[in-house]
Amino acid sequence: MARRKRRSTLPPPPSDPVVPGFVSPTRSVPTAIRRPGYAITGQPSERAARAVRTAAEIEAMRVAGRVAADALVTVGSHVRPGITTDELDEIGHNAMIDAGAYPSTINYRGFPKSLCSSVNEVICHGIPDSRRLTDGDIVNLDVTAFIEGVHGDTSATFLVGDVDTRSAALVATTREAMHAGIAVVAPGARVCDIGRAIEQVAVPRGYSIVREFIGHGIGDQFHTSLQIPHYHDPRHDTVLVPGLTFTIEPMINIGGPAVEMWDDGWTIVTRDLQRSAQFEHTVLVTETGVEILTRPTTGDPAEVRFAGTALAAPATPTEPAH
Ligand code: MF3
Ligand code: CO
Ligand code: CO
Repeated sequence: MARRKRRSTLPPPPSDPVVPGFVSPTRSVPTAIRRPGYAITGQPSERAARAVRTAAEIEAMRVAGRVAADALVTVGSHVRPGITTDELDEIGHNAMIDAGAYPSTINYRGFPKSLCSSVNEVICHGIPDSRRLTDGDIVNLDVTAFIEGVHGDTSATFLVGDVDTRSAALVATTREAMHAGIAVVAPGARVCDIGRAIEQVAVPRGYSIVREFIGHGIGDQFHTSLQIPHYHDPRHDTVLVPGLTFTIEPMINIGGPAVEMWDDGWTIVTRDLQRSAQFEHTVLVTETGVEILTRPTTGDPAEVRFAGTALAAPATPTEPAH
């Protein structure tokens, strides 16, 4: 097995560090759209969530998943050099409210925007702002929609213009690792099998896996107590049963796994400022295997940017046909 790359052997990142821009006011949601409890208070419910969903909840989660995925496809199709992440936020916000959904991130623990935008060395939870995407950037857009009383959560990392080979390979591997994690989901499998499958894709290629942020149970609550690490930890021996719904959302780094938070209290970056990529789906454990709930009506968010390139398909296609 290849050994993990040492930081000292890595070339410097291909762009200057990301710096915070101006954050526009929180976008408003029509009063006719149903809101989650935290929309007013900022504090999500502390009550224990059921882990296994009812048939009605599963139907609702298919809707929420599709709304989030379709919004992600729409936002992703606007990714290009010169657009600001705030403009992408507006596009995602409008896509969700046009579908009758509340953008789940608004006021979630006080988060101010309608999606997360995480550029280059930003790992996750980047706040959309006045920064313009520039040629060679990579940007993760993480969209969560609340509709019919439940959440759907999905993200993809997009290539902005002409991206260097090393960054493009990181993005492709991260997507492949997410699909490898999804592929082992079935009744009888254990939570730790997911992280092991992700690790087996990423680590032999010299990447590191973020440990501080993990996948999560999801349903009528955005984040439930169910934890899905993206690295192998045999202590997570919970056996998967039909009706569980959770996210798989690996964050994978070119350099080391260490993270830091900006003073804004949200933006998470790699300590070594090397780039990080992420993909996310919300999945359901079925009687026979797994169903991806965040499939868009047409296409795949990643294909919006990768169409026509060698990165168009994951190395092992695991996503069921639409
Ligand atoms: N969508 C993120 C996730 O995958 C959570 C964003 S919460 C926010 O879990 F407050 F940062 F928006
Ligand atoms: Co999530
Ligand atoms: Co998310």
